[in-house]
Formats: sequence, structure tokens, C-alpha cells
Amino acid sequence: MTIRFDGQVALVTGAGAGLGRAYALDLASRGAKVVVNDLGGDPHGQGENRAAAQKVVDEIKAAGGEAAPNYDSVSSYDGGFNMVKTAIDTFGRLDVVICNAGILRDVAFHNMSEEDWDKVFAVHIKGSFTVLRAAWPVFRQQSYGRVVLTTSSSGIYGQFGQANYGSAKTAMLGLMNVLKQEGAKYNVNVNTIAPVAGTRLTQTVMPQEMVEKLKPEMVVPAVTYLVSKDCADSGLIIEAGAGNFNRAAIVKGPGLRPGLDDMKDAEWVQSNWKQITSLEGAVPMWNAQTPLATHLASKA
Ligand SMILES: NC(=O)c1ccc[n+]([C@@H]2O[C@H](COP(=O)([O-])OP(=O)(O)OC[C@H]3O[C@@H](n4cnc5c(N)ncnc54)[C@H](O)[C@@H]3O)[C@@H](O)[C@H]2O)c1
Repeated sequence: MTIRFDGQVALVTGAGAGLGRAYALDLASRGAKVVVNDLGGDPHGQGENRAAAQKVVDEIKAAGGEAAPNYDSVSSYDGGFNMVKTAIDTFGRLDVVICNAGILRDVAFHNMSEEDWDKVFAVHIKGSFTVLRAAWPVFRQQSYGRVVLTTSSSGIYGQFGQANYGSAKTAMLGLMNVLKQEGAKYNVNVNTIAPVAGTRLTQTVMPQEMVEKLKPEMVVPAVTYLVSKDCADSGLIIEAGAGNFNRAAIVKGPGLRPGLDDMKDAEWVQSNWKQITSLEGAVPMWNAQTPLATHLASKA
């Protein structure tokens, strides 16, 4: 069945280029009214330029869609509220938020400055907080919301030279894991995309040939499905791009459970290390106590 967003409003941050632009164009072509946010700075988070967001708004309108620009920085608390206000004032509602805005300040850890750390956290993790904090009361009130956060293989698995970026991207998983629980009662689903695409962000680390081949549009289908009303899942990490779609997960191994009455020492841990660290039979969790399968069974 065709996935449509008629009557729905989506806010995409960092939608003036790369992946965000591709998400915004696809949602608009499927009937969503789109708030196109972009500060328009460079890939390291310097400067600003309204042309980025405006250009994508013009593209959407030229294709017969509806869109409005927002030029605020996601790092600003007021900026987050302005974006949501733009959606409500212009289109009357908000159904979808894609937290996509991003910058890179790669440097080996021993050379990383406080500014390199703070700027990357401000855009990725605070920049997701500001927008979602503003959108959350709207979602709760209407008992509907679809959120996609953006992580990275760097955040899930690690990447040399990206201590700031990788940590901020792992923090997205922490944010998702809490919001999936707080949103569940209100039909607010929160998932996370780990994309791969040739964009201006990756052109410094990928050969030009690969940048051209790995189209952002190869990531789009996963994000569009995740933010649709057809997708009932929440709390998933989906890797997409470069001709690949898969799920990644943080899982819990069965370990050993000596119980409260049987105090063990370090030597016991050492001699049982293989079983304690084994991931055989590991399962994804809904929260710290409940395996995902148990949670889903209780909802069925
Ligand atoms: N391209 C990849 O392979 C890849 C891999 C993993 C994760 N990501 C993530 O995907 C997202 C999109 O990246 P991209 O590759 O399309 O990069 P991009 O540079 O093409 O797009 C990012 C956009 O975010 C905007 N932006 C930056 N700071 C902002 C701020 N403070 N407020 C509002 N907008 C801001 C930029 O102006 C830019 O238009 C990022 O979160 C990035 O970390 C990308």
C-alpha cells in the first residue's frame, strides 16, 4: 500500500542539504506539509545562510508540495520552539520530527579541544533535545507523533578521530531508549536511523566516486517508513544506505545469576568470565528489566 502523509505536518532539521533535504522532498511528495529547518552553516558548524532552507522550500513548492522554512539553530532552546511554532502557525499541527541536523569536527582525541567537543554535542544531542522538548507536548496532546533521531555507525560501533561525534551519536540511542518509553502511552514512536550517504559531510572522508554513488535517496525509504503511521515500532536502530537495510541493537547476554544470597569474589568472576561475557542467547531489551519480546507479548 502506498505510504502517504496527507493532512500531516513534518519538521526536518538540517533539511537544507544532504540527507535532510532528501527526507523533506520525499515526505512532501507523499502529501506532507514540511517545515524545512536549516541554519546553513559549514560542515564544522561555522556561519549561517538562509539560502539552504529556502532552496529546498522552493524545490518542494515547484514540485507542487507545501513547505515553510525555518532558519534557527537546533542548538538553541528557543530555536527548537520556533521550529515547532512555525509548523503550528503555518500548517496547524505537527506529526513528524526528524532530528537530522549535524556537523563534524574530527580530530584525534589527544588534540580535541573543548570547543570541538561542545559544538558537536550542541548540534547533535542538545539539538535533538531542543526540538523534541518543544514538540513533545504537541504529540502528547494529540496522542500521536513519529520521531526519527540520527545516530551513526560511529556512535554504535566507534570510529577513530570521532570521540566527540561518536559519543554524541551514542547519546541519541540513550535519548531514544527513554523517549520510546515516555512516548509509548501517547502513540509517540521514537526510532533511530544510522545512515550512510555521500554528502558534504562525508565528502572529506569518502572518495568522490563513492560520494556520487551513495545517494541519500538510498536511506530515504527507511526513514519515510519509520515516520509513517503504518510503522508501529518504537525503539529500533535501523542502518540504511549504500544498498543496505538492517537493524542494529544493544543486547543483553544471559550471563550468570548467583543471586543475592551468594556473594562472589573477583576470582569467581575470573573463572566464569567466558559465560559472563558470552552473547549466546542475548536478547534486545525494552527497558532495564524487560526483554523486548516480553514487552511485545504483553501488548498483543
Ligand atoms: N552522510 C553520512 O554517511 C552519515 C553517516 C552517519 C550519520 N550521518 C548523520 O546524518 C545527518 C545528516 O548529515 P548529512 O550527511 O546529510 O550532512 P550535510 O552536511 O549534508 O547536512 C547536514 C545539514 O545540517 C545543517 N545544520 C548543521 N548545524 C545545524 C544547526 N545547528 N541547526 C540547523 N541546521 C544545522 C547543515 O547546514 C546541513 O544542511 C547528520 O546528523 C549526520 O551526522 C550522516
